[in-house]
Amino acid sequence: MPNKVIIIDYGSQVTQLIARRVREAGIYSEIHPCTVKASEVAAMKPQAIILSGGPASVGSKDAPVLDRGFFELGVPVLGICYGMQLIADGLGGRLSRSETREYGPAELTLTAASPLWEGLPETTKVWMSHGDKVMTPPPGFSVIGRTPTLDVAAMACDEKKIYAVQFHPEVHHTVLGTTIINNFLFRICGLVPDWTMTSFVDRVVKEMAAKVGDRQVICALSGGIDSTVVAVLLHRAIGKNLHCIFVDNGLLRKNEVEEVRHLLGDNLDLNLTVVDASERFLSRLKGVDDPEKKRKIIGHTFIEIFDEESKKIPHVDFLAQGTLYPDVIESTSAKGPSAVIKSHHNVGGLPDHMKLSLIEPLRELFKDEVRQLGRELGLPEYLVSRQPFPGPGLAIRIIGDVTKEKADILRLADFIFRDELSKSREAQNLSQFFAVLTNTRSVGVMGDGRTYDHTLALRAVTTDDFMTADWARIPYDILDCISTRIVNEVPGVNRIVYDITSKPPATIEWE
Ligand code: XMP
Repeated sequence: MPNKVIIIDYGSQVTQLIARRVREAGIYSEIHPCTVKASEVAAMKPQAIILSGGPASVGSKDAPVLDRGFFELGVPVLGICYGMQLIADGLGGRLSRSETREYGPAELTLTAASPLWEGLPETTKVWMSHGDKVMTPPPGFSVIGRTPTLDVAAMACDEKKIYAVQFHPEVHHTVLGTTIINNFLFRICGLVPDWTMTSFVDRVVKEMAAKVGDRQVICALSGGIDSTVVAVLLHRAIGKNLHCIFVDNGLLRKNEVEEVRHLLGDNLDLNLTVVDASERFLSRLKGVDDPEKKRKIIGHTFIEIFDEESKKIPHVDFLAQGTLYPDVIESTSAKGPSAVIKSHHNVGGLPDHMKLSLIEPLRELFKDEVRQLGRELGLPEYLVSRQPFPGPGLAIRIIGDVTKEKADILRLADFIFRDELSKSREAQNLSQFFAVLTNTRSVGVMGDGRTYDHTLALRAVTTDDFMTADWARIPYDILDCISTRIVNEVPGVNRIVYDITSKPPATIEWE
């Protein structure tokens, strides 16, 4: 087993970044909610523990508490922000409450030598976000850093290998944060980087082969990177015992079916069934214009078809899915309930009678790690760097009721938009871009005649995480070229508009 760092999540917005930084250092890390017990962590056999930040105030009502058992496991511990306050409070130091938060940059001055500070200048910029502060470190700890507002900005107990910082080394604004985290991992914990994609592939392929044996697995392909990578990994592990199903719902982008068939069926030799169910989807969507109803119909129909197809394969025991690490944390972390803005469609809601065990080989990975893995597996770059495409497909980009004619118009316009952005190299600056067929017609003039045709909207955004997004400032000349081409080449469209709303308040998709 590779080295492993366990991160205990006390609710900070940036806990995931700690996991990122540790993995970027070549060490595998996992986040667990703060309700995890020290005995459970012990069973995971970690080489180090990191206590994250969090919004609470130690000792206040409902504030997460520290399991002091973490210090009995004989592995180094690093506390960050709330994690530092928990260490101070739990091991006999003294905190001071504050109603106001210090938020933003601060200058850290190193007040004592420490392996944590190796390679740092005497002062360095760090990022603060805290209310309470440590007044007196616990017995056995020494102060190793201060800022103008904090006498104890960092503390350490070398003997027990417990270290704590009040600032956030995991965020970019802490200029030498990566050095600090790497010092903890390499100098204090003595770890050697061993988390590479090649080692990951070897391990997962072996694990999957052992788990599945000679039984059968089905996998729903969406044409996106996650399910493709799952399929290719499993293909390596179990070969023809993997059965991939790709459903053409009539709402895919131009050339998508052919590309999937060509790459996975022909080139990679996967056991692939392409089901043409476009008529079934389109007839069920007839006359439906409510976005949530469209999503539900598509989700249910997808499951129905998947169920029918899998019945044709004898003795299936497993379902493979492209669940990623952020999905896993979202469902296990101590997060509060959030409003349902859109019901996302995936294969989660399979009927009970299917009773398949899940195989989720990407559960440990972040999205960009899946892309890296795709490259490692030799997938072509166009697929690896592909932008996300929603499960309900073009149905949620056709405002109002969905028809084949409208889907054809949108497919062609969307293709031209993407084609021009790729040719102009503008695509590489964008996170996601697509066309939307609005439910509006307007008057135009073409040649000598009056037209009364569709208004098409173009949407392009930049984002890191798709939770918030900014509309992209595509140069006017490129937009002009796209607009001219679409109006000339797509019958039924006579007006193009560009969406200049960010998320929030808008969402990326229109429905
Ligand atoms: P919104 O529109 O919520 O989209 O800002 C955020 C990201 O999620 C994608 N999206 C979906 N992906 N199934 C998916 O797999 C869905 O039902 C779905 N709806 C939206 C959207 O394309 C964007 O990348």
